[in-house]
Amino acid sequence: MTGRRRETEAPAGGPAPALPPVLPGVVVRAGTVATASLADVDALVLPVAPGADGDEGVQPRHGTVEAAVRYGVDLADLADRHDADGSAGSVHTIHLPRPLGGARELPWSGLPARVLLVGVGAGTPADLRKAGAAVARATRGLGGVVTTAAADTDDDGTGAFVEGYLLGAYRHPTGAAKPGPGPAATLTLLGDHGAIEPAQHVARATWLARALTVTPASTKTPAWLADQAVAAVEAAGRPDQLTVTVLGPDEIAARGFGGLAAVGAGSVHGPRFVTVRYVPAAARGRHVVVVGKGITFDSGGLAIKPRESMVGMKTDMAGSAVALATVLGAASLGVPHRVTALLPLAENAFGGASYRPGDVLRVYGGTTVEIANTDAEGRLVLADALAHADADLDPDVLVDVATLTGAATLGLGKQHGALYSADEALAAGLVRAGAASGDALWRMPLVPEYRAALDSAVADVRHVADPGVGGGSITAALFLQRFAGRRRWAHLDIAGPARSASASHEVPEGATGFGVRVLLRWLRDL
Ligand code: BES
Ligand code: MN
Ligand code: ZN
Repeated sequence: MTGRRRETEAPAGGPAPALPPVLPGVVVRAGTVATASLADVDALVLPVAPGADGDEGVQPRHGTVEAAVRYGVDLADLADRHDADGSAGSVHTIHLPRPLGGARELPWSGLPARVLLVGVGAGTPADLRKAGAAVARATRGLGGVVTTAAADTDDDGTGAFVEGYLLGAYRHPTGAAKPGPGPAATLTLLGDHGAIEPAQHVARATWLARALTVTPASTKTPAWLADQAVAAVEAAGRPDQLTVTVLGPDEIAARGFGGLAAVGAGSVHGPRFVTVRYVPAAARGRHVVVVGKGITFDSGGLAIKPRESMVGMKTDMAGSAVALATVLGAASLGVPHRVTALLPLAENAFGGASYRPGDVLRVYGGTTVEIANTDAEGRLVLADALAHADADLDPDVLVDVATLTGAATLGLGKQHGALYSADEALAAGLVRAGAASGDALWRMPLVPEYRAALDSAVADVRHVADPGVGGGSITAALFLQRFAGRRRWAHLDIAGPARSASASHEVPEGATGFGVRVLLRWLRDL
């Protein structure tokens, strides 16, 4: 740290995520609805599916017929009278009456008086994720719920239901005690099921990414975020497999991370460069390096953003949260590949020490870059990290994740991440993992003709293409590509899906954690 400015401590008291995040319990219990003890259960959740073509009414799924017999209630008729259609993620809560004191016993005495009919659609993993999320929302505040919804599916189906439940149960940390329906219920899966732990690990990683991303920038300085990475690594309790190092402003400058140093120069909260390494016990796989853009607040710098565009910019470190959650998730899943997460962290602030349009920087490895617009800061910190990975870490695959361009959002909307890669197999693997995981990716072209738009008269490269070219997400990707060298490389522009304007199925309003699920799926299948 130089003497001319002092870093103030991040103000205490802001909401901070729990490390590791504490998820609601999920347990598996053998048995059937016909015979299982259901005393002390707050709700029984039963699956229904849409009727076959031309068929009126819903179809009962696993356990629903047995439950009808045990309750002595025509549940299919009840579902129809509630207008249940069995579509994935629909849910109807039925409150069965209790007998008046002294009156005769009702057939369902001793059984949960709250029965939920949850639509499982066609029973695909995507449908079961929606069903799980709907159950989480509809049962929040209850103690324990029992379901057969995932009992007649395979391991993928069970995993999807559990993941949906846990992702739907997520709430942003609020700091203040807000009145609400309370924590999520403990979920019991009744029947035969495969392992649920993988889904729990994926959900826990996604919770972490969401909670970090939603944290206010006043709390979430680069130093704070680096501390969270250190704390998360310590909390994982695998010192033989997971290690973390943090570089401060002086080391960042001394080692030649000129992009990160320049972007971070305008803030009193200096930059950090975090490396988290996972080395599996029996490393038989590849070495994957995941780089995540970590701008803790993007004001635009001297090229200051208009007021409305700045509002969501505490989430501009979503990529680094995804990279951190991915390496931690890979460790808890025990994937056989080495994974290294690189987190270049900086605040892009407006100030007297800010970098300027027209400046020429030397990024890691010596490439000189002419600055066109200080609001295109993400690609500079990524260039440093990618060049470092290529030069020093010998990765088999290099992936970067970044809320990089508004242009990606304009082109693809908020449901898809933009995927760039020159490697067909890598692109195909990521698209497949995206479709399977719920984090959908859409492949975009690295149009070679646009590369000349990054030519500079005063440096090796300009960092922003001239606006006449268009394709702002593409030209940003072309800029990054040169820093990945000859490595197999993929770039995920998640500016759209990293945030959501409203909650939908397993995705909450606000920070979504988009990217964690696809990368963990891809690593597990690699
Ligand atoms: N962080 C923004 C990109 C962004 C925009 C993310 C909207 C999420 C929502 C990025 O740093 C940025 O400002 N990009 C500029 C690039 C331009 C100056 C070439 C943009 O997209 O306008
Ligand atoms: Mn910017
Ligand atoms: Zn940004």
